Amino acid sequence: MTRVTLIKGDGIGPEISESVVKIMKSAGADIEWDIQTAGLDVVEKEGTPLPDRVINSIKQNKVALKAPITTPIGKGFRSVNVQLRKALELYANIRPCKNIPTIKTKFDNVDIVVVRENTEDLYAGIEEKIDDNTAHSIKIITRDASIRIAKYAFDYAVKYDRKEVCVVTKANICKLSDGLFLECAREVAKEYPQVKFREILVDNCCMQLVQNPSQFDVLLLPNLYGDIVSDLTAGLIGGLGVAKSANIGKDCAIFEAVHGSAPDIQGQDKANPMALLLSGVEMLKYIGQSDAAKKIEKALFATLNSGVRTADIGGSAKCSEFTDEIVKNIEKV
Ligand code: NAI
Repeated sequence: MTRVTLIKGDGIGPEISESVVKIMKSAGADIEWDIQTAGLDVVEKEGTPLPDRVINSIKQNKVALKAPITTPIGKGFRSVNVQLRKALELYANIRPCKNIPTIKTKFDNVDIVVVRENTEDLYAGIEEKIDDNTAHSIKIITRDASIRIAKYAFDYAVKYDRKEVCVVTKANICKLSDGLFLECAREVAKEYPQVKFREILVDNCCMQLVQNPSQFDVLLLPNLYGDIVSDLTAGLIGGLGVAKSANIGKDCAIFEAVHGSAPDIQGQDKANPMALLLSGVEMLKYIGQSDAAKKIEKALFATLNSGVRTADIGGSAKCSEFTDEIVKNIEKV
């Protein structure tokens, strides 16, 4: 039995977490959920959106499955997601984007892994209002964090037999900050002669991605570009409803969907649980429960194959119906 922290989040978070827990249980995953609340609802009761008990739970269990949490726009508390990544030093955000069988998209040869630096850049949250008409945000890029994420990207490439790492920056404009990130990537690349190394500016990268995504393999990006580009790559394989991610640190890992709390469809039983489910499948592999992970993958693809799917990927099933169909297929596996 593995104890795993479960953060059900808000918006569509509770709906999709319920789905994933049900599916994992039916697949025989041997997990004891340590349920922790965080975010908007918690602020009112506990005075902070991220109480210490949440961080302590993850530190103790070393692994968490997390549904999305809303961040107030333009005001209010700092993102709980960003705070968690920082507090637990989850420095690598891994977002694999590969075509999913039966989900038809414009391209059928996408197989990209986004490796996003997860602890600094403009997400450091250092902002200052100078006067009513001027605001400053400070972009932090350090050598240590840049070397650490570049090494992660190259090690990942070696481990999973990927051919190329492409570093994505705007070093022509942010000459010092992105320049440092690029310089570190170049340094690390020299230690991995077996992996091809490429450099591209982020604007050109976006254009190339929507025209010819199969040219890319592993993308290495600072935090902000990684966030934006990984939504773009999610779009290439069927949208946010199917894009998985993992936040990896030295001691702990949090698995979560790429998408946010989707308040526009909250409470309507419309959300696609696949992104969180596939993140959960990666979590099961990470904690050594590959049998349950394989069962879920098989049942999920059988379900998609039979045409049962949620609206965001061209179907008409509700989240609960899609979930029940996967559970039925697990029983048949
Ligand atoms: P979003 O990712 O929540 O939604 C963007 C669009 O995709 C919406 O139209 C939504 O309905 C759709 N969508 C997202 N997930 C879906 C799913 N599973 N099934 C079907 N459709 C889905 O992005 P948005 O609206 O910009 O952000 C909403 C909130 O989420 C914000 O407060 C933001 O800060 C937060 N957020 C949280 C994240 C996290 O917890 N890791 C990540 C990204 C955003």
